[in-house]
Amino acid sequence: MWLKDSSIGRKFIMSITGLFLVLFLLFHGSMNLCLVIDDIFGTQGYNWICAMLGANWYAIIGTLVLALGVVVHFCYAIYLTIQNRAARGTDRYAMEARQEGVQWASKNMLVLGIIVIGFLVLHLYNFWYKMQFAELTGVETSMFDPQDGSAIVKGLFTNGVCGIIYCLLYLVWLVALWFHLSHGVWSALQTLGWSNLIWLKRIKVIGVIFATIAVGLFMVVTVYFLGVNIGSMM
Ligand code: HEM
Repeated sequence: MWLKDSSIGRKFIMSITGLFLVLFLLFHGSMNLCLVIDDIFGTQGYNWICAMLGANWYAIIGTLVLALGVVVHFCYAIYLTIQNRAARGTDRYAMEARQEGVQWASKNMLVLGIIVIGFLVLHLYNFWYKMQFAELTGVETSMFDPQDGSAIVKGLFTNGVCGIIYCLLYLVWLVALWFHLSHGVWSALQTLGWSNLIWLKRIKVIGVIFATIAVGLFMVVTVYFLGVNIGSMM
């Protein structure tokens, strides 16, 4: 089948799943901003949105679709990398040395992706396991109320020295994510047809803007709670 057997078919799948994940990130990052607003103004917006989305069949299906997107994106990435390396053979390093204009991120997409997924596993344990999993199964997974997402996030990020370490780990994760997205969005748009000479430079800029907005939303939350935590320790 074309989507599975040809290199451009596999890139197409990578692009569609990648852009789907970017949309999720924009939604997830915007929602997380409520955590900061709630902390500053004493409101309950974040928990209200969580309650509205709920831990129900829609949430389970949404999470499964998301998980499928990540798995397909990851498997195709490995498959494409192996195929590219096999095609280039021993000339792989000579090729890279000649490609002066190629950005660092474009040559390290797989490594960046592995870093992003590695941290994602930790992240799912930190939050998803203590919220959605606990609600759906009724299992007690932390000392917090699974419906109080705001307290769970604050509990992790403002927990003294441990909170500082977590915030720094999240910042490393977000930098890797920024590099991955800045090249990934550009590459996906190009694969999906935006590849003429005039648009080539423009979609590079669009990729960087998207990556900066998506990652910036998470950075604001992390840096804010890092500041709150350090402030409370002094
Ligand atoms: C400051 C940074 C972040 C915070 C505070 C945060 C917070 C959360 C919380 C509270 C949940 C649990 C929601 C629930 O179970 O109802 C969650 C789930 C999740 N997060 Fe994050 N997140 C952050 C960054 C990220 C990043 C950078 C990614 C992806 C690279 C990501 C991917 C996910 C995924 C896939 C889930 C599971 C699906 C879901 O429950 O919506 N998160 N996050």
